[in-house]
Amino acid sequence: MQQKLGKAPHETAIEDHTYRVFPNDLNSQGTVFGGLIMSIMDNLAHIVAERHSQKICVTASADSISFIESAGQGDNLIFKVSVNRAWKTSMEIGVKVISEHRNTLAQKHISSCYLTFVALDENKKPTLVPPVTPLDPKEVRRFEEAEKRRQDRLRHKK
Ligand SMILES: CC(C)(COP(=O)(O)OP(=O)(O)OC[C@H]1O[C@@H](n2cnc3c(N)ncnc32)[C@H](O)[C@@H]1OP(=O)(O)O)[C@@H](O)C(=O)NCCC(=O)NCCS
Repeated sequence: MQQKLGKAPHETAIEDHTYRVFPNDLNSQGTVFGGLIMSIMDNLAHIVAERHSQKICVTASADSISFIESAGQGDNLIFKVSVNRAWKTSMEIGVKVISEHRNTLAQKHISSCYLTFVALDENKKPTLVPPVTPLDPKEVRRFEEAEKRRQDRLRHKK
């Protein structure tokens, strides 16, 4: 396994994937079904993990998800996704979801989640991924905080 050079998070990030909420996206309360948001989170995080590693990746885990605010019909959901840190074969991807009111454009933070992806080789075994090279202060902060979350999640796994 040969290690590649690092990439900065903004090189592989998804800045503003935007999804318009339609009636069939709503739960019985008239707000967006949480499973829809979780599915889009996983899908976009997967894309960022594969952009970073340039390997086939699988979701190893998702940290707890809270829905801080609700979104409704006609709102836009904006997803911001980037890799925070990579270790040997795994990567932490952070996803932030914001709702945007269709008329006022007022924004609310709906949810955030950290997901861990593992890169696999042709034999479906974990394989090395390139390091993350954080450049701006926000990327450096996320890089540093990711190590503590990894320790918590591996402790929890045991
Ligand atoms: C994820 C998977 C490849 C890990 O395999 P494994 O045999 O446990 O591999 P290892 O113990 O060598 O761990 C590989 C890496 O995964 C990380 N990892 C494993 N389980 C993890 C978890 N629950 N959360 C976070 N990281 C995890 C390890 O820390 C390690 O990271 P590192 O190499 O960067 O240090 C394996 O469990 C798997 O294939 N799971 C199914 C994935 C899948 O199908 N997902 C789609 C949803 S169904």
